Amino acid sequence: MIVMGIESSCDETGVGIVELRPDGTVTLLADEVASSVDQHVRFGGVVPEIASRAHLEAIVPTMRRALATAGIAKPDVVAATIGPGLAGALLVGSAAAKAYAAAWGVPFYGINHLGSHVAVDALEHGPLPASVALLISGGHTQLLHIRSLGEPIEELGTTVDDAAGEAYDKVARLLGLGYPGGPVLDKLARTGDPRAIAFPRGMTGPRDARHAFSFSGLKTAVARYVEKCERTGEPVPTADVAASFQEAVADVLTMKAVRACTDVGVSTLLLGGGVAANSRVRELAEERCAAAGVELRVPSRRLCTDNGAMVASLGAHLVAAGAQPSPLTVATDPGLSV
Ligand code: KG4
Ligand code: ZN
Repeated sequence: MIVMGIESSCDETGVGIVELRPDGTVTLLADEVASSVDQHVRFGGVVPEIASRAHLEAIVPTMRRALATAGIAKPDVVAATIGPGLAGALLVGSAAAKAYAAAWGVPFYGINHLGSHVAVDALEHGPLPASVALLISGGHTQLLHIRSLGEPIEELGTTVDDAAGEAYDKVARLLGLGYPGGPVLDKLARTGDPRAIAFPRGMTGPRDARHAFSFSGLKTAVARYVEKCERTGEPVPTADVAASFQEAVADVLTMKAVRACTDVGVSTLLLGGGVAANSRVRELAEERCAAAGVELRVPSRRLCTDNGAMVASLGAHLVAAGAQPSPLTVATDPGLSV
């Protein structure tokens, strides 16, 4: 059975195609992504109206490319992200998906974006055992308890303020590094000293929620540090600031994620979302998982950021689990939770 997945929750128009085999395994046939990120750079963040218009222009060509790559005329199932995400952006992808599903006469599945960040891993590493997922991106920072793909997901905790990627983007702007900040900061951090500045680790006190996160205090601490340099006329040691900031983020994320595995009683940790592409997060997660006897699963960098393959993967797992298709009247929900 061939499943097409359409992603349009933010600034990536993604169309993925997977095959669900009779033994339940899911393999990737095509993964085409068109990004409007270049159009948002001069605004320092994603502009929803621009993203929606870019999706409108990209959706049909991206679908055609994916069908050609997979070598098929039409899929057996169409799945599309219905939330969470930007309202107008979600509408473009889901409306296109519903229209094609109706025209082709195939079932439609409305997909939760957060669940699809988890399901993408199965394309590279096979069936997912019971696990904890750390979902870290520009819009979300969450610890999730996964029993199996296709079953409801339990949210263990989330951020009380900024998402991890949002903190990266804001700190990059503060240092004048441009948008999106994650990849640039990551690269710069590798040339700095992670112990140069003692930035705070949010939500790690004995009375703080074990599975919640907070990054706004860290962002403010970086801003204060930069202001102090400017006041005293010292040059800002940008590489050391980047390295110390990155260490604080990676330290909290990986400490809490590995601890959540022990709390829940699972021995697999899955990373997902754009920030899972971060070199220090990956390195520290490997170190701490090895020490705790936890298996670490991380999708390749390309599949960590938003794409259509992740939507197709969750769609295929829902079909395999016997889930009913969504009615074509199903609404998009910008605030959808897991
Ligand atoms: O998952 P994603 O593509 O889109 C959302 O759903 O938000 O994640 C984008 C976020 C951005 O905030 C970007 O700065 C961050 O992921 N990011 C990184 C890295 N690559 C992307 N953050 C830290 N280090 C990276 N290497
Ligand atoms: Zn995402």
